[in-house]
Amino acid sequence: MALIQVTAIYPGTFDPMTVGHVDVAQRASKMFDDLIIGVAANPNKRPYFSLDERVAMAREILSDLPNVTVQPFDGLLVEFAAEVDANVIVRGLRAISDFEYEVQIAAVNRHLAASIETVFIAASQDYTFLSSSIVREIESHGGEYAEFVHPLVVDAFSLKRQAESS
Ligand code: COA
Repeated sequence: MALIQVTAIYPGTFDPMTVGHVDVAQRASKMFDDLIIGVAANPNKRPYFSLDERVAMAREILSDLPNVTVQPFDGLLVEFAAEVDANVIVRGLRAISDFEYEVQIAAVNRHLAASIETVFIAASQDYTFLSSSIVREIESHGGEYAEFVHPLVVDAFSLKRQAESS
């Protein structure tokens, strides 16, 4: 039992959440007292799923993890972390190519808020190639992507495609 309560944030756009993200969230949930999945509005990325849809999917997908909650945020990550009293930011590292960028972002976040530590979790070797845009790319071309996401994400894509074509 830690002497202080450690609340961590795992941020991302999660457009959509993949099994790679779930793997990182599951492992982080065992390391910290509370884990908040911070779903970034991130309008610059022009997400395919709305913020509400991404939050709802993440809540459902991670509903079996009792110490995990899902919240949307807009603006700076460190400001959101301060709002929710989080002292740790969790980032998943898939490959060495993620490292340089992640270290840079961690340094920026430390500069902005020195009291918040960034902790890296090595993502599963099975999914080092995986990203949300890879999932969207395969889906948009009618390829098989179900193994990369929770079944409810497959349903969400189907519903959205039906709505687009009607
Ligand atoms: N499994 C599968 N995919 C993964 C992954 C994993 N373990 N880890 C990362 N990815 C994917 C992400 O889905 C994302 O895919 P995409 O580009 O196809 O959407 C890609 O790898 C890059 O990941 P990441 O850098 O985490 O991007 P993101 O868009 O998911 O999240 C934020 C970025 C939201 C954390 C970041 O933009 C942020 O903090 N924004 C707020 C503003 C701010 O404070 N910026 C920092 C200071 S300048």
